[in-house]
Amino acid sequence: MHDYLRISLTERCNLRCFYCMPEEGIDLSPSEDLLNDNEVIRLATLFVRYGVRKIRLTGGEPTIRKDILDIVRRLNQLRTMGLRSIGMTSNGLALHRKLPDLVANGLTHLNLSLDTLNPSRFEAITRRRGHEAVIKSLNTALASLSTSSTGVGLRRVKLNVVVVKGVNDDEVFDFLQLTKDRELSVRFIEFMPFSGNNWGKDRLVPSALLLDRIMSRHPGVTKAADELNDTARSYIIPGFRGSFGFISSMSDHFCSTCNRLRITADGKIKVCLFDGAEISLRDRLRAGASDDELASLLGFAVGQKKEKHEEMGEIDTATNRPMILIAASSWLY
Ligand code: GTP
Ligand code: 5AD
Ligand code: SF4
Repeated sequence: MHDYLRISLTERCNLRCFYCMPEEGIDLSPSEDLLNDNEVIRLATLFVRYGVRKIRLTGGEPTIRKDILDIVRRLNQLRTMGLRSIGMTSNGLALHRKLPDLVANGLTHLNLSLDTLNPSRFEAITRRRGHEAVIKSLNTALASLSTSSTGVGLRRVKLNVVVVKGVNDDEVFDFLQLTKDRELSVRFIEFMPFSGNNWGKDRLVPSALLLDRIMSRHPGVTKAADELNDTARSYIIPGFRGSFGFISSMSDHFCSTCNRLRITADGKIKVCLFDGAEISLRDRLRAGASDDELASLLGFAVGQKKEKHEEMGEIDTATNRPMILIAASSWLY
């Protein structure tokens, strides 16, 4: 069941993480090419009508959108149609002031990207200042966690840490320490190659190796239950309030169970990460397509995704690049 929709709200970002973006940024689409708020909501409504239960807002950096609060508020109205969670993946730089309103408007899940606990390292990785602001966002998020079991309020906070050898792999235990007394899930992500990001096998820290390292210090580590479609494999350290996990996109593909659908900032639906093929929903929307017409396009896209899974290979060994990376680099979002 493809019940998880990721919506990219913008290609822009206020950071320049070396593994993601060139220093000068990327060529941006003209703003009129991007979906406006009404178009985002119209598409989201259709997806929810056809079974989507989780929506995650991504970017670039989604908090850059001026209408972000309104988008979350309007998505929240889709709960009556069955939407269960509204997530966001953010770098946290411009988040802490907006967070209370985002949560009040319906945000339930927050994934924060933060690769270092050291401010000067943060500048080296992101090529921008702002470590303090991200930490503030993290603390605000943790303080906003809801204790309610009714599904209202912020329910989960995760930290995404891209681990790069020689850059931040010495901070793994510091990140784990954050989970000791906090209701926080830290996910260590394998560094992936994009053109120009200086990836090398020697800079990759495989999750299995990290797990060994962690287990030698915390021998009681136990496996936590994962949901079928989780990107991460999660673990628990006895006595720790939070948890940790690995997103092993390089060493362990989880694509055959992938339930994700994606809409890019310019309104294309991506049928599969392993396939650059995209169908423009925006063009149909702007040409005046009816809901039924759009729905049949969505049905077609999901059908393509299912077929893709059946015929999918894993790594393009000729170039030693996962096929994933041959698609647009925006696949992560
Ligand atoms: P939740 O499971 O809802 O918490 O979110 P997520 O982990 O899917 O989303 P997030 O935006 O936090 O992405 C974290 C990392 O997951 C990204 O850096 C990617 O490495 C990986 N990821 C997200 N979606 C996919 C996917 O469909 N396939 C693969 N291979 N990796 C993905
Ligand atoms: N390798 C691994 N993770 C990456 N991300 C961005 N670029 C890369 C890369 N080259 C991560 C971000 C964010 C998530 C959505 O993807 O840090 O947390
Ligand atoms: Fe921005 Fe996220 Fe890319 Fe960093 S990884 S440059 S925060 S979009």
